[in-house]
Amino acid sequence: MRHLIDITDLSVEEVNELIATAEDIMDHPEKYAQACRGRQLATLFFEPSTRTRLSFESAMLALGGTTLGFSDANSSSTSKGETVGDTIHTVSCYADIIAMRHPKEGAPFAASLRSEAPIINAGDGGHNHPTQTLTDLVTIHREKGRLNNFTIGFCGDLKFGRTVHSLVNALSRYDNIRYVLISPEELKLPRYVKETSLKSKGIDYTQTTDLESVMPELDVLYMTRVQKERFFNEEDYLRLKDSYILSLEKLASAKSDLTIMHPLPRVNEIPVAVDDDPRACYWKQVKNGKFARMALILKLLNIKV
Ligand code: NCD
Repeated sequence: MRHLIDITDLSVEEVNELIATAEDIMDHPEKYAQACRGRQLATLFFEPSTRTRLSFESAMLALGGTTLGFSDANSSSTSKGETVGDTIHTVSCYADIIAMRHPKEGAPFAASLRSEAPIINAGDGGHNHPTQTLTDLVTIHREKGRLNNFTIGFCGDLKFGRTVHSLVNALSRYDNIRYVLISPEELKLPRYVKETSLKSKGIDYTQTTDLESVMPELDVLYMTRVQKERFFNEEDYLRLKDSYILSLEKLASAKSDLTIMHPLPRVNEIPVAVDDDPRACYWKQVKNGKFARMALILKLLNIKV
């Protein structure tokens, strides 16, 4: 039985296969419409979500399967003091596969030790978010036609942004990618991510606080929200929340084929006016997320179409 806790639980070849499957599903959805008939996906969200949970559910339904679960831990026996391990053990008696989000780093891994069904990490605290990464890789692949030879800027809350940690880790396995890490001093990429994903592999990166000065170099710009829920005091959040606001004026110096990404939800960092710019790809990213998750469900259930 395979779980997806960290993006490197999949080999690069497997990730590439998933991207190819996701793209095939986009082109031929009817081929896959009954692939998961009789199978159940549980979505257990101990933390808020819109896209991740609903794209998982939409993905399973589009594969002909069914879904069950909760989107609020207070409505589960967690509120009576049940441990995550016991909750997961229970749900794995009903469901064939489980997507789970939890505020504690490592909770999906702990859950996987107690589960009789594959566990998918749908976000664990400020740590990892591997299925957003699959979504992001599909998006970059579709926009650029490749997963190598480009410069990517990560901008915003690189400290707590779990989507950034997983994507840096995933991209570090592809060739000739330059990383520009743009954040306030307090929200820099954690040292452990730099060490394990970049430094140990001899990969070059630059760090800056200034988005505008690096804008012309970027092929991909990955914007992020300042993660309010991970701050210890509101004062720091209020001081840092609007550190980077992308505007059409700031984009004037960017490449004409820049790919602008954001895992969403956005708060202030991308005004709605930018949505009409042809370089804005975050709504395409939302769509791609469903297909990436369809491909993943098939793989973990070992279903060949
Ligand atoms: C992200 C997350 O939950 O980490 N959202 C998502 O799944 N698309 C990003 C965020 O909350 O800022």
